[in-house]
Amino acid sequence: MVKKKACIFISGKGSNLNNLIRHSRVNNFPIKISLVVSNNKNAYGVRYAKMFKIPYIFINTKRKNYENGILLNLKKHKISFICLAGYMKIVSKNLISRYKQKIINIHPSLLPKFKGLNTFSRMLKEKEIKAGCTVHYVNKELDSGNIILKKSFFIKPNDDENILKKKTQDLEYKAFPESIIKIFRKN
Ligand code: GAR
Repeated sequence: MVKKKACIFISGKGSNLNNLIRHSRVNNFPIKISLVVSNNKNAYGVRYAKMFKIPYIFINTKRKNYENGILLNLKKHKISFICLAGYMKIVSKNLISRYKQKIINIHPSLLPKFKGLNTFSRMLKEKEIKAGCTVHYVNKELDSGNIILKKSFFIKPNDDENILKKKTQDLEYKAFPESIIKIFRKN
């Protein structure tokens, strides 16, 4: 099987990156991670790229035309699929239209509920019954593209933000790889 060359965008801890790298090393997993992009020089997650000898680049989103560097590198590494794994920047319209239906994101809520930031505190405030994660295609509206897969759990009375985050991330480690398998099985 020929694996699609994928790029993972991160901003921080990179636990989803680590998980995806480990899955991608299994023979029949549909993608090979060929590039990591970080908008944060201090992102802990970059060490996973180093550990597994995956090329990585830093981008400074404050710079004008910073996207040219991304596009050049995506081309250089023949990237055909992009996963946003805790990437805390909005992806430009230009990149989205160049990679139409080829960019997916993982979000820590059951979309369409709780788009954007601070999902866990908002869920607690609104006394939600369920929490979870969603993997979706990225389009021009924030956290609004077609949904690929959701995983959920019931919120318990003692669940605080940290517990919700931990439970959500445990589900993310299943949802992200399952979504990728689902996408490429269809094609
Ligand atoms: C993940 O939980 C992901 O759902 C969230 O950031 C975390 C990154 O964790 N993404 C967003 O909030 C995007 N709006 P990680 O760096 O350990 O993978």
